[in-house]
Amino acid sequence: MTGTQADEDAEALLRIAVAAAGEAGRLLASWRGDERPEVVETKSSPTDVVTEMDRRSEALITSRIRAHRPGDAVLGEEGGQTAGGPVGGSDGGRPGRVRWVVDPLDGTVNYLYGLFDWAVSIAAEVDGTVVAGVVEIPRHGETFTAVVGRGAWLHRGEARVALHCTSGVPLGQALVGTGFGYDSGRRRVQGEVIAALLPYVRDIRRGGSASVDLCSVAAGRLDAFFERGLNYWDFAAGGLIAREAGAEVGGLAGKLESTSMAVAAGPGLYQQLNTFLTRLNPERDAQRSQERDG
Ligand code: IPD
Ligand code: CA
Ligand code: CA
Repeated sequence: MTGTQADEDAEALLRIAVAAAGEAGRLLASWRGDERPEVVETKSSPTDVVTEMDRRSEALITSRIRAHRPGDAVLGEEGGQTAGGPVGGSDGGRPGRVRWVVDPLDGTVNYLYGLFDWAVSIAAEVDGTVVAGVVEIPRHGETFTAVVGRGAWLHRGEARVALHCTSGVPLGQALVGTGFGYDSGRRRVQGEVIAALLPYVRDIRRGGSASVDLCSVAAGRLDAFFERGLNYWDFAAGGLIAREAGAEVGGLAGKLESTSMAVAAGPGLYQQLNTFLTRLNPERDAQRSQERDG
């Protein structure tokens, strides 16, 4: 595939993602909020909840993707990985090369409580690399998008603005977003890490949706974000959007961002925060549970 074809494919994938995320966002927002949606299941812990709306959103997104590209794989938070059918998409797509990574409702606890920071996050990978991503935030009327190499954008109605993360912010002046997992042992360590970091930054925010947090870094609403233990669908789209807005995104000490650790910030601050966090060993809950389990 030539570079131009690859670019066109990524734009086409983004269009499918934006349409599906918009529709799912409208479905989620149609819940009137006078009654909490029912919690139908808990996952990793009693506070890690799934509502009927998470499932309906994912079913809608998957059906919209499949309608355009039946040959693609979909990795969704609620449904796991499903392979595409044997036939290529309506565009003659190449089965096996494209995978969609979907968080149908990122920020479920905010959604449950009627808070506004929740999103639909959809990323498209080609050959294992994220090339396009959308984070739809219905209650703010905002859609964040990025295509690899083409910048990050915020769409509000008909208006669209190019996004740039903050730059040249020293750690001591940085507004840093983070999040906490659902496992109590992990949270204990996360609390220790925050206690050690808090005296050295402007302030800390815990927004409740990792994909929204990453878009906030892209838009300069946060200077930095880090979280231990995210799932891939939490950061696949938001990570591309932050990177395309000029942020560095990675793991600790030169590693790639992963389900172990994701850090995002403008250049300079990224290195400062990364060095600070590395010294705090925020991934040590894994060692503790290994020791506990023998
Ligand atoms: C959660 C949110 C939250 C983050 C958690 C995620 P969910 O996703 O992104 O901000 O701190 O680690 O699991 O469960 O609402 O889709
Ligand atoms: Ca999530
Ligand atoms: Ca979710």
